[in-house]
Amino acid sequence: MCGIVGYVGRSEAAPILLDGLKRLEYRGYDSAGVAIVNGEGVQTRKCAGRIAALSKLMAQKPPSGSFGISHTRWATHGKVNDTNAHPHFDQSGKLALVHNGVIENYGALKAQLVEQGHTFETETDTEVLAHLIGSIYDKIDNNDSKGRLVNATREALKQVIGTYGIALLHADVPDFIVGARRGSPLVLGVGRDENFLASDVSAIVAHTRDAVYLNDFDLVAVERDKFEISSIDGETGEHQINKVEFTSEDISKGDYAHYMLKEIFEQPDSVRDAMRGRLNTEECTAKLGGLNMTAAELRDVGRVVLTGCGTALHAGGVGEYLIEQLASVPTEVEFASEFRHRNTPMTRDTLVFAISQSGETADTLGALRESRRKGYRTLGICNNVASTIARESDGGVYMHAGPEIGVAATKSFTSQVVILTLIGLLLGRMRNLSTAEGSRLIEALEALPDQIEDTLKLSDHIKSIANKYVDVSGMLFFGRQFNYPIALEGALKMKEITYLYAEGHPSAELKHGIIALVRPDLPSIFVAPDDGVFSKNLNNIEQVKARKGPIIAVTTQSGAKQLKGIANDVIVVPDAPDTLMPILTVIPLQLLAYHLAVGLGRDVDKPRNLAKSVTVE
Ligand code: G6P
Repeated sequence: MCGIVGYVGRSEAAPILLDGLKRLEYRGYDSAGVAIVNGEGVQTRKCAGRIAALSKLMAQKPPSGSFGISHTRWATHGKVNDTNAHPHFDQSGKLALVHNGVIENYGALKAQLVEQGHTFETETDTEVLAHLIGSIYDKIDNNDSKGRLVNATREALKQVIGTYGIALLHADVPDFIVGARRGSPLVLGVGRDENFLASDVSAIVAHTRDAVYLNDFDLVAVERDKFEISSIDGETGEHQINKVEFTSEDISKGDYAHYMLKEIFEQPDSVRDAMRGRLNTEECTAKLGGLNMTAAELRDVGRVVLTGCGTALHAGGVGEYLIEQLASVPTEVEFASEFRHRNTPMTRDTLVFAISQSGETADTLGALRESRRKGYRTLGICNNVASTIARESDGGVYMHAGPEIGVAATKSFTSQVVILTLIGLLLGRMRNLSTAEGSRLIEALEALPDQIEDTLKLSDHIKSIANKYVDVSGMLFFGRQFNYPIALEGALKMKEITYLYAEGHPSAELKHGIIALVRPDLPSIFVAPDDGVFSKNLNNIEQVKARKGPIIAVTTQSGAKQLKGIANDVIVVPDAPDTLMPILTVIPLQLLAYHLAVGLGRDVDKPRNLAKSVTVE
C-alpha cells in the first residue's frame, strides 16, 4: 500500500526510481511522483494515474540528478489528483517527502503549523509531516546540514501518532536521504557506491541483493558510500545485511499475459515448495521446526486461532476444518481486524497463527501484536521472509512460494492451505490420527503437484465457460464443509478482478434467503466434489435449477456423472481426500475469475481501488 523508492549514487536517479516504482505498482497505483535533486534544486514530476503516466511526464522534461525519492500512491487522505500525489514539500519548498501510512494526528499538527503561519497546498497528512520536519530543520542552529535533517526528522516523528514508512531529502543537503519506519515496511538496499531505499526489495533487486530490513522506529541516513541506522530516539543498534532470495527474473512476467496467470500456473511448484523437507514419511507426520515449539508444548495446545485478512483469512477458513478434522483441536478463524479489537476469551493453551502473504498487512500485524501482548504464543504463516509479521512472531512457517505480484492472491492461498494441512497433520499425529491415516495424507499431499498440473490443463475449457457469462449481473458461490471457504475465495477473486457482484455462501444457506436472488442472469457456482456432502449439494443445485438459475459445477469425475443434465457447465478436477480437495477446487475458480476479467477488459494485475499489501487500517 503505497510504494517508496529512494536512490543515492553516481547514476542518473530517474530511470532507477521509475523502474523501482514499476516493480512496486502492485502496492498502489492511483498517482505517482518523483523528486530528484541536482545543483539547481529539487525537480519534481508527479501526476494522477499509473506509473506509465508519470513516465510520460518525465520523458517530456527529464529530471536529472543522482539522488532522489519517488512514490506510487494508494490514497488514504485526500482525493486522487496531481496535487495530492507525492512527494510533498515543506513551507520552504526545499524539503521533499514521500510517505506510506497514515498520520492520525495530522489535524492537530496542521492546526499548530497554520498558527505559526504555514500554508498548505494539499489535503494530505503527508504534507503536514513535511512541514513539521521542515519547520524543525529551519529552527536548528547548526552547520552540519545532514545532522540537522536527521535530528529534525527524529524530533518530528516523536510528535507523530500513526504509521509511516518515509523517505525525504532536502535541496540544501546533497547526496543524502533520510528514511524511517513505523508500521510500514522499509528496506535499505546496499550497493557499491550507491544505496537504495524501498518499501519492498523487489524494487531494488535488479541493482543489489544485499538488504537491511528496517525495524519499526528505525531511522536511516543514507549516503552514496555509507549509511547509518539509529532508532528514532537516537540509539544506535546492530543491523544485519541479508541476501535477497530471489532475482529480478523471478519477478518478471515471462511469457504470461499477466502476473496473476503466471502465479496460477506456478502452483504445482509453489505447493511442492510449501511441503519440501516438511514431510516425515517414517513417522507419518510433518516437520515444522520453525514453530519453535517442543513436542510437549505442541501436545498441550488446546485451542487454535487462525487470523488474517482477505485470501489469507479464507485459507484460515479451510484450516479451521482441517485442524479440527485431523487433530480434533478446537479451531476458530477470525478476521484480524475484528480479533485485534475484540475481547475474545481465550485459554492459556491457545495457539494463534497470523496468516499473511506479505507479512505486512496492518490488521494482521495488529492482531499478532495484541495476541502477543496478552501472552499467547503467536506464530506466523508468511511468504515474505523478513517481513514484520515474520520477525515479530514467536515462530512460524514460511510459504516459500516466491514473489506474488498479482494483486489478487492465488499461489499464496494454496501454499497457506498446504501449511495448515501440515500443522493439522503434526498436531493430529500427536493426538489420535493413526499412522495409516497420516501416511495416506502424506501420499495424497505428494500427489498434489501433478494433480494441480492436470487441473491447469482445464484453463481453455474454463475460458470457454467464462466467455458465456460475460454479460451476467453477478455470481453466487456455494460450497459445504472444506469447500465453503473455497466458495468465499472464489467470490473474492471474482469481485476483485471482474468487479462483478459476487458472494460465497454455505450451500445450505441458499434456502434461507439467497434463493430469492436466483434468476437467469445470476449464475451459481457450486463447489461440489463427490464427497460426504455431495448429495446435500445436489439438492441445493436442484433448487437453483428449478428456479432457472444457471449452474456451473466444480466437481470430481463421479460427481460429474450425477450432474449430467442438471448443471449447465461442469469443471472436473482430480479426486483427492476431502481434506485436500480445496487445493484443487480453488484453481478453476481462480481461472474462471481470470478469464472473465480478461473477457471484460479489466486490468487483472492492478484491479481498481485495490492494493496488494494493505499497510493501513
Ligand atoms: C489485500 C489483498 C488481498 C490479500 C489481503 C491480505 O486485501 O488485495 O489479495 O489477500 O490483502 O494480504 P496478506 O499479505 O496479509 O496475505
